[in-house]
Amino acid sequence: MKKLSLTLKEVVPAIIIVALALTGYGFYKYSTLKDENATLQARVVKLEDMLGITEKDLARTAGEKEGLSQELTAEKERVGSLVEEVQDIAGTVGVLDKLSKTDKELLQKYSKVYFLNEHYVPPRLTAIPLTHLYNEGAPLQIHSNVWPYLEDLITDAADDDVTLWINSAYRSFGTQASLKAGYTIVYGTGANAFSADQGYSEHQLGTTVDFTTRGIGGGFDGFSSTPAYEWLLQNAHKHGFVLSYPKGNAYYVFEPWHWRFVGKKLATYLYDNEQNFYDADQRKINEYLVNIFD
Ligand code: DAL
Ligand code: ZN
Repeated sequence: MKKLSLTLKEVVPAIIIVALALTGYGFYKYSTLKDENATLQARVVKLEDMLGITEKDLARTAGEKEGLSQELTAEKERVGSLVEEVQDIAGTVGVLDKLSKTDKELLQKYSKVYFLNEHYVPPRLTAIPLTHLYNEGAPLQIHSNVWPYLEDLITDAADDDVTLWINSAYRSFGTQASLKAGYTIVYGTGANAFSADQGYSEHQLGTTVDFTTRGIGGGFDGFSSTPAYEWLLQNAHKHGFVLSYPKGNAYYVFEPWHWRFVGKKLATYLYDNEQNFYDADQRKINEYLVNIFD
C-alpha cells in the first residue's frame, strides 16, 4: 500500500486555500450580519418612533378626554341651572296666575280705612244651611270659597260641645246702608262706634260672620263670657278666621262675635305672633293673599 505523505509544497497551498475560503466566508457572514443588524437597528428606530408617536397620541387623547369631561360637567351645570331657572319662572308664573285670579279685596283693611266699591259683590255666594242660623227665618249667605272653612269650624266646635249659630254674614252695600241708617236714627253719631258705613263693612266681602251661642238669647250681649268665645279664641285661626275688633281696637267697640276669614296661613301667623289683623302691616298681609284658600 502506498504511504500517504504530503510534502510541504502540497500542504501550504491547501492551507492557504482553506484560510482564504474561511476568510471569504467570514467576510460574507460579517457583511450579512452587518446588514441584518442595520435593518434591525432601523426597525428598532422606527418602532421607537412609532411608540413615541403613540404615547404622544395617548397623552393628547387623555388631555382631550379631560377637556371634554370638564366641558360636559360645565354643560350639565348650565343645563341644571337653566332647568332651575325655568322651574322658578314657571313657579312665579303659577303664583302670578293664581294671584291674578284671587280677589284683591279679600285681605284689605276696611273699617274706616278702605272703601269697598258700592258695586262690589262676592263672585259666588252660598246659602248657609238653616240649621246653622240662629234665626232660620232669615236666610244668610257667605262667600262660596269661605263656606267649607266655616262649616269645618262649626263642626269642630260642636265636637267640643260648643254651639255656634250665625246671626249675620254677607251684607250688601245696600243692606249695610239701611242698617246703618236705622242705627243712626236711634243712636245718632254713636252708631259709628259699632256699625260701619256702607262700603266700609267687612260683611260686604262675604267672608265675615257674627256668631251667637246658647245662653245669651241669640244676641251678642254677654258673648265674651261664653265658652263659644273662649273656643273661638283658641281655635278659629285653625280654620282661617280672626277676631277683627278685639278689646281696645282703634275702630269699633269690642266685638267678640265678629269673625273674618283671612285664610289659615295668615290667621295662624297672627295667632302665633299674638297680633291683630288691623295691627299687621298691609304689605305683610298681602303676602298671604295668594294662599288665602289653601
Ligand atoms: N259691626 C261692624 C263694625 C260692621 O258694621 O261691619
Ligand atoms: Zn259683624
